[in-house]
Amino acid sequence: MNENITALCPGSFDPVTYGHLDIITRAAGMFKKLIVVVASNSSKNCCFTPEERVELIKKCITGLDNVEVVHYDGLLADYAAKVGATAIIKGLRAMSDFEYEFQMALTNKELNPNVETLFLTTSAQNMYLSSSMVKQIASMGGNISHFVPSEIKQDIINRITTKK
Ligand code: PNS
Repeated sequence: MNENITALCPGSFDPVTYGHLDIITRAAGMFKKLIVVVASNSSKNCCFTPEERVELIKKCITGLDNVEVVHYDGLLADYAAKVGATAIIKGLRAMSDFEYEFQMALTNKELNPNVETLFLTTSAQNMYLSSSMVKQIASMGGNISHFVPSEIKQDIINRITTKK
């Protein structure tokens, strides 16, 4: 446990999946405080509002006392400076994630030299898992129980089916 470090775990989380929750849980065990930041990715059109995404995550992390969930609309590097965070935690699934994540890590370092990006390798069972897959399966009436916790399964189905 890193007693003095506040870390950020940023993402779109549209919606949160077991893959994200695995990274959040493992990172929570490594730092004094972990802030899950629901942020905007300009290249993605999100299905859930930021407030909905925050609520879905909160429902899944009730046992993690050192984890906070926030929505932030600006640059992640600025948010890190604002709250004194010095680490950004990202999950890596495959090489296909790497180039994009590497670019973001270098950009964030340039914008805020006090912050280091650390990568956690995804657990093997989540290698293939993505929020877009979950949305696609839910929209076609498939079973998403293997991908998201039961606490939020119905919320996701309701939201996706009312959006159609
Ligand atoms: O889950 P994602 O979509 O891969 O997460 C990407 C995210 C939201 C973490 C990234 O787009 C981000 O940090 N957005 C906030 C705005 C910002 O700081 N952009 C510059 C990042 S290099």
